[in-house]
Amino acid sequence: MGASVCWSWFAALLCLSFMGTEVRCECTEDRMQIEGGHYTLTKKLERGSLLVYHCPEGFYPYPALTRVCQPSGQWRPGAKKFSPQRCRRVECPDPNVMENGNVFPPQERYFVGNETTYDCYSGYTMRGSSNRTCLQNGKWSGFTPICSRDAGANCPDPGIPAGAARSGNMFGIDDKVKYTCNGNLFLVGSRERVCLENGQWTGTEPACYYKHTYDTPLEVSEAFGSAIKDSLTNLQSLNDTQGGRKIRISKDGTLNIYIAVDISESIEEEHFEKARDAIITLIQKISSFSVSPNYEIVFFSSEVYEVLNILNFFDDTVSLASVIQTLKDFKIGDRNTGTDLNLVLRTIEERMALIKERVGPQAFTDHRHAIILFTDGAYNMGGSPAPTVARIKDMVYMNNTADKQAGSRLEYLDIYVFAIGADIFDDDLRPLTAGTGGKHYFRMKDITGLQETFDEIIDESEVVGLCGLHKDYEMTFDKKGKRMRYPWVAFVINQGKNPKKCFGSLVAPKFILTAAHCFTFGDLPENIRVEIDDENGSQEKKVHHFWLHPSYDINAKAEEGVAEFYDYDIALIQLQTAVRFSSLARPICIPGTQETSDALHLVGDSTCKQQEELLLKNHRERLSFLTRKHPLVAEKDVFAKLGANRDFCIRKALTAQGITATDPKIAVTDNFLCTGGKVEHRDDIACTGDSGGAVFKNYEQRTIQIGVVSWGTQEICKAGGIYTYDNPDARDFHINLFKMIPFLKSILGNQDQDDFTPLTFLQN
Ligand SMILES: *[C@@H]1O[C@H](CO)[C@@H](O)[C@H](O)[C@H]1NC(C)=O
Ligand SMILES: *[C@@H]1O[C@H](CO)[C@@H](O)[C@H](O)[C@H]1NC(C)=O
Ligand SMILES: *[C@@H]1O[C@H](CO)[C@@H](O)[C@H](O)[C@H]1NC(C)=O
Ligand SMILES: *[C@@H]1O[C@H](CO)[C@@H](O)[C@H](O)[C@H]1NC(C)=O
Ligand SMILES: *[C@@H]1O[C@H](CO)[C@@H](O)[C@H](O)[C@H]1NC(C)=O
Repeated sequence: MGASVCWSWFAALLCLSFMGTEVRCECTEDRMQIEGGHYTLTKKLERGSLLVYHCPEGFYPYPALTRVCQPSGQWRPGAKKFSPQRCRRVECPDPNVMENGNVFPPQERYFVGNETTYDCYSGYTMRGSSNRTCLQNGKWSGFTPICSRDAGANCPDPGIPAGAARSGNMFGIDDKVKYTCNGNLFLVGSRERVCLENGQWTGTEPACYYKHTYDTPLEVSEAFGSAIKDSLTNLQSLNDTQGGRKIRISKDGTLNIYIAVDISESIEEEHFEKARDAIITLIQKISSFSVSPNYEIVFFSSEVYEVLNILNFFDDTVSLASVIQTLKDFKIGDRNTGTDLNLVLRTIEERMALIKERVGPQAFTDHRHAIILFTDGAYNMGGSPAPTVARIKDMVYMNNTADKQAGSRLEYLDIYVFAIGADIFDDDLRPLTAGTGGKHYFRMKDITGLQETFDEIIDESEVVGLCGLHKDYEMTFDKKGKRMRYPWVAFVINQGKNPKKCFGSLVAPKFILTAAHCFTFGDLPENIRVEIDDENGSQEKKVHHFWLHPSYDINAKAEEGVAEFYDYDIALIQLQTAVRFSSLARPICIPGTQETSDALHLVGDSTCKQQEELLLKNHRERLSFLTRKHPLVAEKDVFAKLGANRDFCIRKALTAQGITATDPKIAVTDNFLCTGGKVEHRDDIACTGDSGGAVFKNYEQRTIQIGVVSWGTQEICKAGGIYTYDNPDARDFHINLFKMIPFLKSILGNQDQDDFTPLTFLQN
């Protein structure tokens, strides 16, 4: 179109003509200055550029927070003649709304740094903070002061937050209170709360925000952290509502997390990478729980850029490491202008519908969904997203939203909104949140610091001692990265008369599991050293005692043609002092314990047999063990040959030196797992120093030790663990821990001592 889109004569002077067909205009910096602050431009003076005002701490830009350059070469909103752009002092909402008490000093307005104190009329007692300071983010420090008289009501007086008004003065069961915010404040949190039988109010205390009120990173991390933790831990205690039947969480995982990040121009350009890094951190945090959610990850503007399709998780196993790599590799080219918030929510709705179709409507009812949206809410295409959110709610709630009704489905859907930007469209965004419990709406000035916010979220200490928990997302292969992947690995060094180096595994704070053949008759605890690395480097632990399996006897079958007989080749070492658990040092799960059942999501009275069936279910079962390799260890991949495949595998035992017997079962009893060979997969071969190490398997985010590396038919390793593969007879035999549970239980589960907390073993 040749028509000029320039409106004013001034602007027309700056319009550039291209090929005589299209006329484009630039905005000018005329009258854009701000008194006491400065501004930045996202795309210089081109159309669509966002002018963002910045003020010093404790001040905010007024009257405009931002301006957008229109195609006409005009800024919107334009500069106002009688209200020049300036930095205003941050204000906090009026605290004089408190009932039954006094506020000092009484002021019309309260600014950053102003202090207030509160006291109650006689006969009333105070909860909350008796003094509060107006903070730079536009909020009062501490908690809402509440003066109440214990009148025997079911719920405590819920108070009135600064800047708010409350209707409802009855606090009995089913009573409701409603809140509104005064003046130009808007409400974040629960607009309505109901007093429950258990004496608690539903929802969260509302707060009144100004346009210049933001949540601090600490507030966000505490509030979002506790909310998301609820979702993650709830997941483990899911009960089948149909007759109280015990259910097992399906291996597909039942938590679906949809992450959508606005990268339209209204969110500043440089923020893309920060948002991406923050999401990586969030995903890593979530993974530290023993759940593996399915993820949908999209970036959006007027188009949706799908980084990760959640349906992949249903087709195949998607490793966390690959999720993170995909995110890291994701590049965004020329993005479209405009923002279509509705489109991204419709995409999520569609994915949900496909999941429902995939797993079936019955299984879908067990799925929980968390949508996490990062946007400033300034959509200009696609219309309001509200109807789409309503449909998503319908799909998940199945018309069952009654708060108090048993079986309410409100907790199956959480929509968190991270409202981020210099100018947030709160009115559009706040109604999109959903979910019970904690806060779901977070208001942040920019995305800087979001990563640190997520980093703070989950207190590792709560989960640090869980067996088998590890981080496999560490892309680094330095020592620390290895340590996080195998935090249970220990090195056993025997300096007795027959010196030996073995592997071991940390199975409890004071216990290392290793092979019996790492010891020689006559060794004393002081001959043995155990090395474990933690954040302070390699730690040498002294040994208190060690136990070899009572049935271990290397000479037992010498007369039957087995010079060295390794049945029952396991030992437990008790350390003098416990290992301090951290993400670098924590135990591996072992068969037969309750904790392992938890890790495998076996609900109720599970059995060792169930664990075994889950972990060794195929005739070829993939397992791993470790070998020493700079900078710490390397993983060796093998397949255990079970069932019909076992006989062929153990036959090769007869090729080992020192075996003259003709029946391999004399040397390789049922207590061994057999690995090695090249059929279908060329298995790695164990080296001498690998002895005593864990033969393990990862189950979601947990590692379970299945066996202990014992002996092999061939010594084909050269220095540094290098060996030739071309040995068709090489086989390795590992003690199967499922056959050793009585021994493990007799020591680790021993209740008749005061030295350590025993592990809980299953009854059967
Ligand atoms: C409140 O803060 C304003 C702005 O800093 C200051 O001028 C005023 O004196 C303060 N009022 C009190 C009572 O401290
Ligand atoms: C404010 O309250 C806290 C604890 O309630 C108290 O430690 C502090 O001294 C008080 N500050 C003032 C100025 O009264
Ligand atoms: C699950 O059901 C059992 C009874 O079957 C009950 O004791 C337990 O409290 C329930 N757990 C939850 C979280 O509802
Ligand atoms: C919810 O209610 C609407 C109308 O009452 C009905 O059309 C719809 O099928 C119901 N949905 C479910 C999942 O029951
Ligand atoms: C590492 O050393 C520091 C300082 O001595 C100590 O506070 C910390 O507890 C140590 N960490 C572990 C895991 O022992």
